[in-house]
Amino acid sequence: MVRIAPSLLAADAARIETAVDQAAAAGADLLHIDIMDGQFVPNLSFGPGLVAAVRRRTTLPLDVHLMVRRPASFIPLFGEAGADWISIHLEAAAHLHREIGLIKSLGKKAGLVLNPATPLAGLEDILPDLDYVLLMSVNPGFGGQAFIPATHLRIKRLKEWIRRLRLDIPVEVDGGVTLENAAALARDGVDILVAGCSIFGAPDPVAAIGRMREAANP
Ligand code: DX5
Ligand code: ZN
Repeated sequence: MVRIAPSLLAADAARIETAVDQAAAAGADLLHIDIMDGQFVPNLSFGPGLVAAVRRRTTLPLDVHLMVRRPASFIPLFGEAGADWISIHLEAAAHLHREIGLIKSLGKKAGLVLNPATPLAGLEDILPDLDYVLLMSVNPGFGGQAFIPATHLRIKRLKEWIRRLRLDIPVEVDGGVTLENAAALARDGVDILVAGCSIFGAPDPVAAIGRMREAANP
C-alpha cells in the first residue's frame, strides 16, 4: 500500500485544526509538518509549538521534515514536541551518523532527505542506518511548485538499490505530488506520497485524500 501524508504547509494557517481533523477523517497514514528556518531554505514555517498543538489534537503519526541548518540543535525540541518521524537534509547535516543516531535515541523514526539535484550516491554509507529516505521532487521552501520529472528515475534507482541490498526502507516523495502523477509515482515504487496543495487546496480535502489513495493503489 502506498501511504498518503498530507502536508500542513498548504492548510489555512488560521484553521490548522480543521486540516488535522480532515486528514484524520480521511484516514491519512501520516501528517507531514514542514519546518523551515529561513537559512537552509528561503522561508519560515512552523516551530515545535505547532507540532505540540497538533500532537494534542490527533493520534496520527507526525512526520516532521526539518529544512534547517545545523539540525542537531532542533532534533530534541521536535522529539519532545511529539514528532514520530523526523527527517533531516543531507545537505544540511554536519555529522550524519551522530544526527541520525540522535533521532533514533529519542525513539523516533529517522529519515534522510535529498534535494532534487543531490546525487543518490550520497546515501551510500548511511543507507542501512535509515528508517526512511525522503526524495524532494521540488527545491524545498515553498508549497505549490511543479514536480521535477527527473524524480521518477531517482525513485526507481533508489528502490532498486534498496532491494539489491535486501533492506526494507520506505521511500517518500515530497513536492508537486498531484492526483495526476500519483499513479506513476506508485509504479516507480514510491512508498509514501506527501501532498500539500493538491489536498488542502482542493474544495474537499477529505475526498482529495481518498482519491489520491485510490490513484496510488489501483
Ligand atoms: C516543500 C515542502 C513540502 C510542501 C509540498 O518545501 O517540503 O512538504 O508542503 O507542497 P506541495 O504538495 O504543494 O508541493
Ligand atoms: Zn516537506
